[in-house]
Amino acid sequence: MKNILVTGGAGFIGSNFINHTLKERDDYFIVNLDKLTYAGNLENLKPSQDKRNYRFVKGDIVNSELVNFIFEKYRIKYVINFAAESHVDRSILGSEIFYRTNVIGTNVLLETARKFEVEKFLQVSTDEVYGSLGSSGFFTESTPLSPNSPYSSSKAAADMMALSFHHTFGLPVVVTRCSNNYGSYQFPEKLIPLMIINSLKGKPLPVYGDGLNVRDWIYVIDHNNAINLVLEKGVCGEVYNIGAGNEMPNIQIIKLILNYIKKSEDLIQYVKDRPGHDRRYAIDSSKIQSQLNWRPEFSFEDAIIKTIDWYIENKNWWERIISGEYEKYYNSQYKNR
Ligand code: NAD
Ligand code: TYD
Repeated sequence: MKNILVTGGAGFIGSNFINHTLKERDDYFIVNLDKLTYAGNLENLKPSQDKRNYRFVKGDIVNSELVNFIFEKYRIKYVINFAAESHVDRSILGSEIFYRTNVIGTNVLLETARKFEVEKFLQVSTDEVYGSLGSSGFFTESTPLSPNSPYSSSKAAADMMALSFHHTFGLPVVVTRCSNNYGSYQFPEKLIPLMIINSLKGKPLPVYGDGLNVRDWIYVIDHNNAINLVLEKGVCGEVYNIGAGNEMPNIQIIKLILNYIKKSEDLIQYVKDRPGHDRRYAIDSSKIQSQLNWRPEFSFEDAIIKTIDWYIENKNWWERIISGEYEKYYNSQYKNR
């Protein structure tokens, strides 16, 4: 049995990771530590909740006592740190919780992993640590880090902290830097689910700036397959970029969604730009492809339709979310734009 601590496993990527991994692996014992912030939802984990090789612990990664208790009780040998505050817009509204969770929380996990001599610590980082590209070029693993938002600067700090624990203490750390994910269970504050849900409801679609900012999209299952591979075969001290080669201006995705849902493009509403908005992200993932033999399996054309269909079929899931606390955030975020 591989005893793995997965943090943030009730969020979008973490819950997809647990459900997908436990479907295929009964030699993994997964303990999911999640604070259940606004972004954490145990409903996401229904397919895994009754599995004998799965446990859920509600708690904060900043809580060193609890983290120590979990490592000891479950004899944790692997860590995958997904837990984070993850939304750029929220980090602009208030940055403190981003540094608390993403930086201090990661530090607690690293110190505890060192004490318990784990076999691997996988820090889930992001391509946003590289900053913004102009109209050409790609992020490689040696592109200097140049984060621009409170969110990305907190992730860059955690990413560098993890690598420093390898360099200084020999902790077996690997870091993954992935591009923008999409898929089921993504919280509706993010571009793709927000635009799908607003289209379904016939609400305006708020496009920041000129709509020509470019993101490089990857289906969440492709990201998670890469994480499993890096956990098994990644070389300690190394960084692996993960991306599926799907660069797209925001407006193109928004039109695709409207078109598939058969709603008018009149719903598009250009609004005030996000402060400090990164222009373009594009990932060079040739290292993980050549060294670990990873390949994305899903084409954007197929997986975006799968994703839109999931939101159409799982209205109950998102209706419960958008009628709660999230409504207040939405009204304040888009009020004066
Ligand atoms: P998410 O916001 O959907 O989920 C985050 C989860 O972390 C939630 O379940 C939340 O309850 C939990 N959490 C937050 N603070 C916590 C704390 N202090 N202690 C314990 N749990 C806590 O985020 P996501 O989109 O699933 O992203 C997961 C990870 O992947 C993050 O580290 C993010 O930076 C990284 N990432 C995301 C993307 C993307 O496109 N979404 C791309 C690259 C990297
Ligand atoms: P987002 O999903 O917040 O991811 P990130 O900022 O981490 O890349 O946003 C993706 C892109 O979509 C980004 O360029 C900002 C843009 N965007 C909008 O135009 N309108 C919106 O309401 C949101 C949430 C995002």
